[in-house]
Amino acid sequence: MTRSFYIKTFGCQMNDRDSEIMAQSLGEHDYAETLQVDDADLVILNTCSIRAKAEQKVMSLLGYLRKIKQKKPELKICVAGCVAQQEGKRLVEKMPHVDVVAGTQHIYHIPQLLAEAQRQNGPRVAVELSDSYAIPRFIPDTGPSSPASAPATLQETEFSRFVTIMQGCNNYCTYCVVPYTRGREVSRNLKDIEDEVDVLVKSGVREITLLGQNVNSYGSTNAVTDDGSPCSFPQLLERIAGIDNLQRLRFTTSNPKDLSEELMRCFRDLPSLCPQFHLPVQSGSNAVLKKMNRKYSIEKYKYLVDVLRNYCPEIVLTTDVIVGFPGETEEDFAQTMALLESVRFDGSFSFKYSDRPGTASLALPDKVPEEQKASRLSRFQRRQDEISLERNTMYIGEMHEVMVEKRDTEKYRCRARTNHVVHVRSEEYLEPGQIVDVTITHAGQHSLQAQYGSNPIIS
Ligand code: SAH
Ligand code: SF4
Ligand code: F3S
Repeated sequence: MTRSFYIKTFGCQMNDRDSEIMAQSLGEHDYAETLQVDDADLVILNTCSIRAKAEQKVMSLLGYLRKIKQKKPELKICVAGCVAQQEGKRLVEKMPHVDVVAGTQHIYHIPQLLAEAQRQNGPRVAVELSDSYAIPRFIPDTGPSSPASAPATLQETEFSRFVTIMQGCNNYCTYCVVPYTRGREVSRNLKDIEDEVDVLVKSGVREITLLGQNVNSYGSTNAVTDDGSPCSFPQLLERIAGIDNLQRLRFTTSNPKDLSEELMRCFRDLPSLCPQFHLPVQSGSNAVLKKMNRKYSIEKYKYLVDVLRNYCPEIVLTTDVIVGFPGETEEDFAQTMALLESVRFDGSFSFKYSDRPGTASLALPDKVPEEQKASRLSRFQRRQDEISLERNTMYIGEMHEVMVEKRDTEKYRCRARTNHVVHVRSEEYLEPGQIVDVTITHAGQHSLQAQYGSNPIIS
């Protein structure tokens, strides 16, 4: 009998891709997805632990599921991902209604773990992290024509897909849980990546985003080619960019500390590589960067931005910033604001520092009070929004290529090569996945508006 499953995904794109993999493997074991949590026979929470808030959301959802399970005892609950990895056994001690805890290297076997829990009549906790872990081959067997492998809850468009190229992180930034929740850095076999992209593109996918916590170090910690010859990230990009009919290639994320000129040159040389770069800076103060163990200076960061803009003047640059890291003074924060003025990022994701279990910064003195963190965050975000709007306004009147994602009431939600969301008016019907040139008519802080076809009204 077919059982139904519901997946709720928290956190980063890596988790989005992992949820697709779990959905695919459940589909192969006679499960079908439902979008209603109350109808599900199995609920999976694919969790994130990056900040305390993310973890609290998981815990409160688990509290809600406990109530559902009291009324429906046959309901199975699985916690996967980074909180699962971090908490392991503690999670079933606190939450005895959880059936399976699947750490980040165990998401490939959810149906088997559920069967084991059933057999042993108690929770199954699978959280061992191996240093010599090889990322399993998980090639999707479906594409846009039959998108069964991607949970519908995640799908912005079935014409754009994530492909994981590496797992884990060896950088140990002092605030970050990822090296603990995702384990050591492991790069995926080059042929597996190529095959996965190839299958996706042949089935109609037009845009691929390559994923890793620090893609710059792809190929540096384990052999990635079958004959053992080296392959760097720029070399991988070149191989993938050359796959027939792949129209748009993106990647995320890069740590500035080992961003090579060879990679920056790819933005000039690879036509399918989209002019968009997410380069997290975290702070504008060298003293704070040092305490964060980021291993670059602000001078180096600015130099990299100059080189990048030289190779690709139209590149859209975004970043991540943490405010209120332990010991951050008003003067340190002023340097972050000054960086914003000098680099003028197109957009940024900014967060209040959050103490995380097991990280080095937990023990640092001079924690910044909550009100000060909140004040710094809102000052930063206010100025970033102004800069984003100023930068976006420069696009008005220009022609941009967009890919249609979906129809929203009056307009089409599309995405530009720069990664801007563009809301497009069109008298003609546009198909999802269609790539068209539009004229930008209005700019907002976080999106653009455009017209497809004749006589755009520009204001
Ligand atoms: N691998 C990526 C970052 C992944 S985490 C990189 O190195 O850039 C995404 C973002 O979450 C980070 O860039 C950082 O800005 C933020 N973050 C991570 N840990 C945090 C913490 N303890 N408190 C607040 N923000 C944090
Ligand atoms: Fe975390 Fe730093 Fe690794 Fe990024 S590079 S995942 S911030 S430890
Ligand atoms: Fe969160 Fe884990 Fe991603 S902690 S940001 S889901 S790697």
